[in-house]
Amino acid sequence: MKQQNYKELRVVAGRSCRPFAVDVCSELGVELGTAHIDEFANGEIHVRYGESIRGCDLFIFGAHAQWKNTSVNDAIMEHLVMVDAAKRASAKRITVVAPFYGYARQDRKASGREPISARLLADLFQAAGAKRLLSIDLHSGQIQGFFDGPLDHLTAMPVLVDYLSRLEIEDLVVVAPDAGRVRVAERYTQKLHADLAIVHKRRNAEAKNQVEARDLVGHVDGRTCALVDDMIDTGGTIVAAAELLAEKGARRVIAVTTHAVMSEPAVERLKNSVIDTVVCTDTLPLDEHQQFDKLQVVTVVPIVARAISAVFEDTSVSEIFGGSNLST
Ligand code: R5P
Repeated sequence: MKQQNYKELRVVAGRSCRPFAVDVCSELGVELGTAHIDEFANGEIHVRYGESIRGCDLFIFGAHAQWKNTSVNDAIMEHLVMVDAAKRASAKRITVVAPFYGYARQDRKASGREPISARLLADLFQAAGAKRLLSIDLHSGQIQGFFDGPLDHLTAMPVLVDYLSRLEIEDLVVVAPDAGRVRVAERYTQKLHADLAIVHKRRNAEAKNQVEARDLVGHVDGRTCALVDDMIDTGGTIVAAAELLAEKGARRVIAVTTHAVMSEPAVERLKNSVIDTVVCTDTLPLDEHQQFDKLQVVTVVPIVARAISAVFEDTSVSEIFGGSNLST
């Protein structure tokens, strides 16, 4: 007989994020569980766990991204099917680990007759059987309220700040590439004792990935700029902002982001841009064609492992970040 409060931590992962999950598991000192995932001829996804997960505290990793010939929607569906299979296999508590939360940019109705897809995603995971969510640098803090249960919102800021600190840049200006990133950029300035600048961005309402960097608030002439954003998707935002900074006299531009989504034509845009270095984390898997000389990847594996350990042990997650409020 097991003790009444006996808990067993188990981790399983979707196909594209297994290397990341294996690294987290080795920090935690557990083995990644076996999940057999395949498809029916028509593309429907089938999941079967290789071991019993009955009664476990189960963490299910999923990368909400395009990967090889899998679409982001297939990746999300795979994640949902994994949650459903775990619920039906009697896992005691299911935590969805989505280092990058898909559809996060659709977190409000920007105009009439639009969805709030970030809310829909939370509803889908809840309906599938998720009891908790764990994610890193959500596009906006309000997404935490979309999930009716605990959502541990982590940040990659410690590892990205550490990367920048090691460069020992004396004239650093942290730049927000649009209004949505100002609070996050401000936090970087506090950690790095740097100045702040803000780019005024306008997005084309008809073409979602076309952006224009219109103006700059702050002084960058002759200085090194760290442009911080939550994600680089097509690279439109960050490259437009970098060009504006160069126009205004910036000496060097470093792009800093948590999530390297890297949809086409991001790699070409970044390679041919004025950006000197692109620093990202490993929240999303990068295919070979998404890697290039300017790209530096820092790992969030220890942060995720510590958070999982804290959730499992019922200790504080915010203590990992010195007790700070992470909402953006
Ligand atoms: C926008 O609000 C986000 O924070 C990112 O700036 C944006 O989604 C990046 O997309 P892209 O690289 O396609 O401009």
